[in-house]
Amino acid sequence: MRVHWSNRRAFIMATAGSAVGLGNIWKFPYMTGTNGGSAFVLVYLLCVALIGLPLMMTEVMLGRRAQRNPVDGMAHLASEAGATQMWKGIGYMGIAAGILILSFYSVVAGWVLDYGLRAAGGGFAGMGAEQAQQQFSSFIGNPYELLLWHTVFMFLTMVVVARGVTSGLERANKIMMPSLVAILLILLGYSMAVGDISRSLDFMFRPDFSRITPTAVLSAMGHSFFTLSLGMGAVMVYGSYLQRHVSIARASFYVVLTDTAVALVAGVTIFAIVFANGLEPAAGPGLIFQTLPIAFGRMPGGTLFATLFFVLVAFAAWTSSISLVEPAVSWLIENTRLDRTRAALLVGGLIWLIGIAVLLSFNAWGEIKLFGLTIFDQLDKLTTNVMLPLGGLLMALFAVWVMRAAHAQEELALNDRHYRRWLFVTRYVAPAAIVLVFLNLVGWLPLV
Ligand code: PFF
Repeated sequence: MRVHWSNRRAFIMATAGSAVGLGNIWKFPYMTGTNGGSAFVLVYLLCVALIGLPLMMTEVMLGRRAQRNPVDGMAHLASEAGATQMWKGIGYMGIAAGILILSFYSVVAGWVLDYGLRAAGGGFAGMGAEQAQQQFSSFIGNPYELLLWHTVFMFLTMVVVARGVTSGLERANKIMMPSLVAILLILLGYSMAVGDISRSLDFMFRPDFSRITPTAVLSAMGHSFFTLSLGMGAVMVYGSYLQRHVSIARASFYVVLTDTAVALVAGVTIFAIVFANGLEPAAGPGLIFQTLPIAFGRMPGGTLFATLFFVLVAFAAWTSSISLVEPAVSWLIENTRLDRTRAALLVGGLIWLIGIAVLLSFNAWGEIKLFGLTIFDQLDKLTTNVMLPLGGLLMALFAVWVMRAAHAQEELALNDRHYRRWLFVTRYVAPAAIVLVFLNLVGWLPLV
């Protein structure tokens, strides 16, 4: 018998744990900052509602029907539909995407751990802009320090994964997700008390259609996949541990809602603190490492709240990283004689090695460019803009064109109206949107 989550809540927490991560607290705020604020937020919300939610349902549905890891799951579903075994490719691509994402994700999560310690030691107090910048660049310029933290984070991830679905993944999420929400609310309260909330809300929500650029649209769409963990089998494998009677639509809705709420609240909180200190929102990836520490360093209770902030980000990253390796680990367990611990060690070791190349790309290997980008940037772009949307596209196409309608319908258990809506979006809207992004990437639609 395949293991399953203890209940619906456990699934929602684990999947929300996967979705809420660096994507929400590190990437989303800095992307909003560099893409002009409200315009980006608006398009992002549209993408999440129109494409993200239906695709989340699709991926959970495929997983639950398959009751297997993504590779064998797709093979099983394909034979059930009398289709070619080539659909297995979705599973392999997902495993590869998870490994590649975690190899840079873990490096950034390592920065978070280091900054958490710095914050706790009062290291931000009275820090000026130049000093903050210098601190960050000398930190990422030191490969040994990055290696140490990358190693620590990979170790933390693998410990949880090795303990299995219920006593590892489920338990970790059950502890960390509620803590994460509590910390976020405390920080929101803090930023309401000492930050510039109204300016932050204005920046994020006052509609300014003139700022909707093609670039903003494309990055918002790629990001909606990344932030919801879609297109690489993480949600599929979590869905494969979901019991039969749980409503996929409702559970997916809560996951998407939680992910979006966390991103928005994190954004409002961060910008309120940034604006109150007269700082710029457009710092890019350094926003929470360079800009935010300056702000915390000047504010009352800054040491405590900065520490809480980095604990929040670390929890978010940790609950996501375990889902990035679960497709690979479940595939190994179900296809080799390795037990879970050895499988975790093997996958973790591989990611750790690739991560070394990633962290060197901030210093010793900074000059090495793959198609014009550093190893770090290239892995981020390749996975977020290509592999995840491609995986999502293929899953959507499989669900509506290959799988038998009766099977999908049975699994989704939607009423007629909702089912037709899901079908329409999954059949036309999502694929069209994804194809548009691809055409643009290869330069046929030079929008950016
Ligand atoms: N959703 C995570 C985040 O927003 O940080 C990242 C992620 C996790 C992407 C798991 C993909 C995935 F399968």
